[in-house]
Amino acid sequence: MTGAARGIGAAVAKRLSEDGHNVAVIDLAEDASQETADAIAAATGGKTLGVGADVSNEDAVKGAVEKVAAELGGPTILINNAGIIRDNMLFKMSVDDWDAVMGVHLRGAFLMARTCQAHMVEAKWGRIVNLSSTSALGNRGQANYSAAKAGMQGFTKTLAIELGKFGVTANAIAPGFIQTDMTAATAARMKVPFDDFIKFSAEQIPVQRVGQPEDIAHLASFFASEGAGFISGQVVYAAGGPKD
Ligand SMILES: NC(=O)c1ccc[n+]([C@@H]2O[C@H](COP(=O)([O-])OP(=O)(O)OC[C@H]3O[C@@H](n4cnc5c(N)ncnc54)[C@H](O)[C@@H]3O)[C@@H](O)[C@H]2O)c1
Repeated sequence: MTGAARGIGAAVAKRLSEDGHNVAVIDLAEDASQETADAIAAATGGKTLGVGADVSNEDAVKGAVEKVAAELGGPTILINNAGIIRDNMLFKMSVDDWDAVMGVHLRGAFLMARTCQAHMVEAKWGRIVNLSSTSALGNRGQANYSAAKAGMQGFTKTLAIELGKFGVTANAIAPGFIQTDMTAATAARMKVPFDDFIKFSAEQIPVQRVGQPEDIAHLASFFASEGAGFISGQVVYAAGGPKD
């Protein structure tokens, strides 16, 4: 479970622990990962592990997955959730803004999936869930992020095609507005108080509220479940209303 020290990732990690899985919390800083892993274990009584790794770094991913395999067993469920935003209008977007976003979302998901699939193929069972976004459909100021999140959808479908015969499914979750540090940062960049941003956003959403990390955890839990084995290569928009 990547990017799991906080936000959506922490909620998914907690939910998977409640579902009875051993859970590795992988995030940039080892201490933050361990703190979240400890909090989840205290709440659920499950077995957890905190790991510090940058998912865009090939060696770090290899080391992290080796550590998880040694301490919790070979990973058969992978949630590619780590993410960053570097929003800017195209004419102001730097190459660093572009590369950083591609590096975490696409390169990170690729490295994690390539490393973990060996364990899944060996077990003849696996579940991969990739975090996309409604921004995949296009969003002002997010040329890098929307391209990465659309890329996550194509990546997911190809994993589903290649790995299906090994009992591995791959699906993508495309959230709309979820109340986390990421959306708080967007509000700050737009110089709007977060509470006002939430209120305004909720008014545009058919169910009249913004999403919470637990909304995404519920869907991730479903995709990771035994019973979801005939559902693969799908993208589900979890946005409080339709998107296409
Ligand atoms: N919040 C939303 O409204 C929203 C909407 C759609 C999609 N998403 C996606 O959901 C995922 C989680 O978002 P969130 O809102 O919880 O964000 P967040 O910023 O609260 O958490 C993201 C986590 O990823 C970690 N991370 C960043 N770069 C990393 C790297 N290189 N290696 C390992 N970990 C790294 C961060 O340290 C952080 O803990 C992201 O992929 C995001 O793009 C979020």
